[in-house]
Amino acid sequence: MTSRRSFLQAGAAGAMLAGTVRGARSEYSFPELEARIARKDFRGITKADLPTPCMVLEQELFEANVHKMAEHCKANKINLRAHVKIHKCPEISKRQQALGAIGVCCATIAEVELMSGSGIRGVLHTCQPVGRNKVSRAIAVAKKDPTVNWVVDDPITVDTLEEAAGAAHTKMNVVVDVYAGLTRQGIQPGDPALALAQKVDKCRNLRLIGIMGYSGGASHTHGFEARKQRSAQDIAGMLETAHRAKESGLPIQIITGGSTGTYNIDVGSLTELQAGSYIFMDTLYRKIGGKDDPEVYSDWQPALTVLTTVISKTRPNQAAIDAGNKALLRPTDQVKGRPGVRIENGGAEYGMLLVNDGDRDFKLGDQVEIYPSNLDMSTNVYDRYYVARGEQIVDVSPIMGRAGAPQR
Ligand SMILES: Cc1ncc(COP(=O)(O)O)c(C=O)c1O
Repeated sequence: MTSRRSFLQAGAAGAMLAGTVRGARSEYSFPELEARIARKDFRGITKADLPTPCMVLEQELFEANVHKMAEHCKANKINLRAHVKIHKCPEISKRQQALGAIGVCCATIAEVELMSGSGIRGVLHTCQPVGRNKVSRAIAVAKKDPTVNWVVDDPITVDTLEEAAGAAHTKMNVVVDVYAGLTRQGIQPGDPALALAQKVDKCRNLRLIGIMGYSGGASHTHGFEARKQRSAQDIAGMLETAHRAKESGLPIQIITGGSTGTYNIDVGSLTELQAGSYIFMDTLYRKIGGKDDPEVYSDWQPALTVLTTVISKTRPNQAAIDAGNKALLRPTDQVKGRPGVRIENGGAEYGMLLVNDGDRDFKLGDQVEIYPSNLDMSTNVYDRYYVARGEQIVDVSPIMGRAGAPQR
């Protein structure tokens, strides 16, 4: 065991490899640590003090990502309505808005309630509200916050919302969700979508504001040129529909869609970009390759890791960590700073790290940072981000909007 002082000195001397630190004796009891976090007193708190597994956000990389996207959108005259599904954290959305984002996209009604309730204006719910519970919650939000926007892809939903909004003496801003390559959502482009837009426009309690088309299949297409082609193909019908709607005099103010994978592809055709993952990045997204780097999508920095601890070390070249199925550890995850280490699931609360012969082995108590494979899934099982500058913790941000299992 090392003392805090020698631990810090070891770090300063560069004795630790990136992503792996030796367990250090904490100067704080766990309740004291929690109390200090509650009053935002982070002095001297380092990764070694944290309860693993936990999520760690590297502030410098996160800030670089947020700034880069803000500048890209400004330069290309496209608005950013960043998706919150991957972070569920109002503080992050507020940071994006401070740098120019016009609003946020939400996948669930719980996220809509959270973001609107946190004072964020310009929410777009990218999934139509269906069923008594969701519709009544949507109406309650719309009454309080007239800046929220709702998608529809079915005339039945239009009738439901028109009636519910009328009964509540409120109006709802509506975006017609048009198929853009994902069969899970979106009315067929062309006449069916146009008819739906006209129907919305005729409603007394709904206000048509635009068209959405999310080309989710394009976002993770490997290789820049292939992605460009796929995106163009997937959104062509949606764009044509938006054009026809405008020509026919419908009030199409926004054309919204796109993703982290197509941020530099969809410019020029969309009025706004729904990218979300770029703030953190995950291992699967990193593999799609960029315009300048076909191997790694290095446009965005990997800012988020799951911090784990080696909790059993009984055999050479393998170590058990305290993150398993419950922490959504996957073989496609990667160890920060140790690309040669393989990951396996070891049960509900265990994961296995497998080291190649001759490579540096792990030790009991080592802290190991893991890049997750799928941000939406992983962040959904944690309740906070520990924001770090190197080893030092500088802030803690809550992950919220998770109430109501299983899809929150
Ligand atoms: C409707 C919609 N828009 C935008 C996004 C954001 O995509 P990304 O995280 O790839 O930037 C998603 C993500 O799944 C989505 O479902």
